[in-house]
Amino acid sequence: ACVAVTTAAAPAYAQKPLVIGFSQVGAESEWRTANTASVKDAAKKAGVTLKFADAQQRQENQVKAIRSFIAQRVDIIAFSPVVESGWDTVLREAKAAKIPVILTDRSVNVSDPTLFVSLIGSDFVEEGRKAGRWLVEYAKKSPAATLNIVELQGTVGSAPAIDRKAGFEEIIKGNPKLKVVRTQTGDFTRAKGKEVMEAFLKAQGKSINVLYAHNDDMAIGAIQAIEEAGLKPGKDIIIISIDGVKGAFEAMIAGKLNVTVECSPLLGPQLMEAAAAVKAGKAIPKRIVVNEGVFPAEVAAKEFPNRKY
Ligand code: AHR
Repeated sequence: ACVAVTTAAAPAYAQKPLVIGFSQVGAESEWRTANTASVKDAAKKAGVTLKFADAQQRQENQVKAIRSFIAQRVDIIAFSPVVESGWDTVLREAKAAKIPVILTDRSVNVSDPTLFVSLIGSDFVEEGRKAGRWLVEYAKKSPAATLNIVELQGTVGSAPAIDRKAGFEEIIKGNPKLKVVRTQTGDFTRAKGKEVMEAFLKAQGKSINVLYAHNDDMAIGAIQAIEEAGLKPGKDIIIISIDGVKGAFEAMIAGKLNVTVECSPLLGPQLMEAAAAVKAGKAIPKRIVVNEGVFPAEVAAKEFPNRKY
């Protein structure tokens, strides 16, 4: 007699959950805390096993974490790179081990674009442009002949610091009224934002008209420094920042911050979707951009209840 042998599909309970190794930048800002919560929460909801590593803002810690994910043979490696350069070697190791890499939030500069599958995140150059466009409109209405700008940059070598600076410069260059008089890194933290703003105030006295901060946390730190110097943030010094965290909305409602450009940290659900698609062998776009707005102080009170981070 002849017996037919069929191979049944594995029952659902026997299917192994997707394993993602995720290396996070650190916990430097309110934005980052919300980003971490979004990734962890989305993993839980999707039934994904998440191996999470905090790099404490150091590239060498991220390289170590990625190597450990390779050794553990995770399904997907995801990470938000602290800085743009220096990733070729470790990403080649991941490729050799046939583990797909998805970037979240920040980009990398690599010689071979196939070293990562996709980048899910904001357009930082456009965020810088949005900040610049707001200032150009403000300058049109200001009676001052010149507006002296100080700039608090994000982490040196990071994609958002490089791109937000470039986008802002692109818009304000050629405007004779707008002049950047000082620019320095505040490493995306409140403490550094305060410290560097103190130094700006010492060097420039009362001649500062505008602060452009690459994130809300540095702006919030700088607000403290401005108040301690006996000046009114949001009035004596116009303040523009990026992220749109709740702390920025509170500062706008208090009249201390003039505008924040939105940068959404809620990337977790998109990461889980992309990772599942990659694991299933489906093609995903090389670049997944998040839609974001601009919130001036006039709309802060109305928008505050809608904020999710
Ligand atoms: O990469 C996104 C930036 O990193 C956010 O603007 C900032 O707050 C964070 O630390």
